[in-house]
Amino acid sequence: MLVEAKTLSKTYKIGWFKKRLVRAIEQADISVNKGETVGVVGESGSGKSTLGLLLTGLLKPDGGQIFFNGEDIASLKAGQRAAYRRQAQIIFQHPETAFNPKWKLIRSLAEPYYLHKIPFSEESLFRRLAEVGLYVEHLARYPFQLSGGELQRAAIARVMVLEPEFIVLDEPTSMLDAITQAQIIGLLQEIQKEKGVAYLFISHDLDLAGVFCQRVYRLKEGKLQLT
Ligand SMILES: Nc1ncnc2c1ncn2[C@@H]1O[C@H](COP(=O)(O)OP(=O)(O)O)[C@@H](O)[C@H]1O
Ligand SMILES: [Mg+2]
Repeated sequence: MLVEAKTLSKTYKIGWFKKRLVRAIEQADISVNKGETVGVVGESGSGKSTLGLLLTGLLKPDGGQIFFNGEDIASLKAGQRAAYRRQAQIIFQHPETAFNPKWKLIRSLAEPYYLHKIPFSEESLFRRLAEVGLYVEHLARYPFQLSGGELQRAAIARVMVLEPEFIVLDEPTSMLDAITQAQIIGLLQEIQKEKGVAYLFISHDLDLAGVFCQRVYRLKEGKLQLT
């Protein structure tokens, strides 16, 4: 088992005067095996993004446990924690928000090398570009000079620099037209075949999840159920 969450809960407290509680995730159990694609489908506001943030360690649960490669992520030592932060990645719905608008693509794609102390070389970067179907000429462009599909490819390339074992795909194609969506799904499948990475595919589209995923959970009002 690569990722396993047990009785996971997350409640947001909102409001300043009258505190209101939003139970985003309630007692959720979910597991993802190595190299597997697992779907999570639910309506807007059902807690999907919250679940993705919890499983990648970007948000702390207020109940339950998350195990990554059998280790409880709440009790990882500093070195193990850094490894987990590298191995568990997330790709968001809006690729344009994932990039600094003032940076040319080369800078955004070089950043993870420095952040995670991965030896940088042009060959390595060009290889990552080629893997996602982008070209060297894209590197000199600003995010606004790239299409939505190209930006999502760039977001995938940036994550693949880290050679993750697990990627949460939070509605990665819902802002794209049908043809581009199919291309990105095809690319993700190709990458998985080559690298053996596991995906948690978050979507509001049950049909798409059914085609792409080996198992699909349904998320309804914070509760998870295997379909
Ligand atoms: N940072 C936050 N603060 C307060 N409430 C939030 C926050 N993020 C999400 N929520 C609320 O939690 C619920 C689940 O949100 P979210 O996980 O984004 O769902 P989804 O991705 O399925 O649309 C929603 O009611 C949303 O308004
Ligand atoms: Mg969401």
